[in-house]
Amino acid sequence: MNFIAKNFSEYQALYQASIENPVQFWNDFAAAEFSWKKKWDNVLSWDFDQAKVEWFQGAELNITENCLDRHLAKIGDKTAIIWESNNPNEASKQFTYNQLHAEVCQFANTLIRLGIQKGDRVCIYLPMIPELAIATLACARIGAIHSIVFAGFSAQSLKDRINDASCKIILTADAGYRGDKITPLKNIVDEALLNCPTIEHCLVVNRTNSPITMGPKDKWWAEENEKSNNHCPATAMQAEDPLFILYTSGSTGKPKGMVHTTAGYMVYTNFSFRNVFQLKDNDIYWCTADIGWITGHSYILYGPLSAGATTVMFEGVPSYPDMGRFWEVIDKHKITIFYTAPTAIRALEQSDISFVKKHSLKSLRILGTVGEPINEEAWHWYNKHIGHNNCPIVDTWWQTETGGIMISPLAGITPTKPTFATLPLPGVQPILFDEQNNSIEANNVEGRLGIRFPWPSIARTIWGDHQRFKDTYFYTFPGAYFTGDGCKRDEDGYYRITGRVDDIVIVSGHNLGTAEIENAIDEHPNVAESAVVGFPHSIKGNAIYAYVTCYKTPENENLLRQEILQLVTNTIGPIAKPDKIQIVSGLPKTRSGKIMRRILRKIASNETESLGDISTLLNPEVVEDIVYGAL
Ligand code: WT7
Repeated sequence: MNFIAKNFSEYQALYQASIENPVQFWNDFAAAEFSWKKKWDNVLSWDFDQAKVEWFQGAELNITENCLDRHLAKIGDKTAIIWESNNPNEASKQFTYNQLHAEVCQFANTLIRLGIQKGDRVCIYLPMIPELAIATLACARIGAIHSIVFAGFSAQSLKDRINDASCKIILTADAGYRGDKITPLKNIVDEALLNCPTIEHCLVVNRTNSPITMGPKDKWWAEENEKSNNHCPATAMQAEDPLFILYTSGSTGKPKGMVHTTAGYMVYTNFSFRNVFQLKDNDIYWCTADIGWITGHSYILYGPLSAGATTVMFEGVPSYPDMGRFWEVIDKHKITIFYTAPTAIRALEQSDISFVKKHSLKSLRILGTVGEPINEEAWHWYNKHIGHNNCPIVDTWWQTETGGIMISPLAGITPTKPTFATLPLPGVQPILFDEQNNSIEANNVEGRLGIRFPWPSIARTIWGDHQRFKDTYFYTFPGAYFTGDGCKRDEDGYYRITGRVDDIVIVSGHNLGTAEIENAIDEHPNVAESAVVGFPHSIKGNAIYAYVTCYKTPENENLLRQEILQLVTNTIGPIAKPDKIQIVSGLPKTRSGKIMRRILRKIASNETESLGDISTLLNPEVVEDIVYGAL
């Protein structure tokens, strides 16, 4: 069977086969497409009630042999990674598969010399420089579990993540460039490490020549790496050995360390990448995400590299040195497949169209979006001005927890529909549930989205807290995985994601837990209580609105707001800063004392005519005050 659909009927046939006999389907794909040190005994065993899923049990492999070694004989001189600097005047770098293989092996030996062994956790806190890709793959080479923390998180967030996973080493840089800013990464690490007893070494890349202090645990990356040779056999991993931990926000304040394992993740990121983007040999593929998020893990590194693609890594931001940077880079590297976020599209759409018009964009053949629902206007702008009405747009719905793309058009193969993620990939079985948690089988319906059968790259657990994994994802709908998203299925059976239905807000494509932000705000000595909700924002999709009650009437409200913003920045990071902070006399509560966020969401969204019945509240009088004082 050809596992990459070449037309709509092939997609339908693949889908059908994957549903009728998933075990056969994934068995055949896995056997045909990868190199295994040892084949599996059992394709799948699962029990959603216990939140247990195992794929390819008994198999042995190393994902880097599949991403690197097996390509060398055929495409060793093909470019694997093109790195584009933040600074348009700095030369870009290219790594062929041969070179990347050598770099990964060399750094893997450095990790080994520093005492890192299979199963150890390695925290990676690096900007988008080649060392980030190399380090990630080097961990996988020796079976160390990488835990990449986006280099925009604060010292406290970093510390919490390091400690949650008991990381043994941290990899960072002196500082990182992003647009016209320099983030002092090493200083942030120094602050975090004051309270990280498990860290034995801190390895530092010199990216910016910033002045930093080197303490007893600190070592320069280049000096250590020089001592290593580039021969490093790949460690044999069990199919279900963890490959990485990646933290995502949850409905409680504590981030969840999602654990992805080796074989299933490899199989599904490869499968989904090739099907969705319809990869050709000469494609130059650019995903603009940061490797610190799941999109970068799956679709800058593992999916593209296991498929033998040329993948672009960009250090900068879309707005630097001006709003034409993306389009300039597309022409410069002759990008054929471009994958970005709706928030970036909206920001670029609102800048002068001359930034686009200066560039030909004629190399492009496929466009993609990910991270949040794309609104109709942005979809059409992207289609017309970037795709010149000539590039299919794949609106890819998925999550950190799903590991890979779940619902999406296959570029040029299955139909697109503006604002719709459209159809499930082969192997993915979506199911909608109504308010009573009954499944809805018909079309032209709306509900909450679940998945009723395991796919190979489903997260296996939350690091150190399997009970929470079970409760979060397998409790709401018995027998199915719960996504946390609302979803429509139209008359043709196409899916449209309508947004989160839990206490998570997606801001500029970043998943933020409202409870985590509230916890940060509550640290302020004069804050009695806070409630955080999302509200629509024309560029970010959603922005954060914080309602705050105080112990003492603040003398200077603006000062209090500044202090709260600083607290959130220090505790989580600048991405979680509220756009609006309203100081209120009380928060609307139910008689059982639960904050009625529904009402606060309406007020924040300026929908005050439709607040619904507030008479059952414990304190209905505060609502009028809040509406009156709304910003
Ligand atoms: C949440 C997951 C998947 C990588 C980036 C985000 C939202 C994601 C779409 C889309 C509508 C989307 C969902 C999902 N989301 N893609 N194409 N259309 N919504 O990963 O941080 O784990 O967030 O992002 O709400 O649950 P994440």
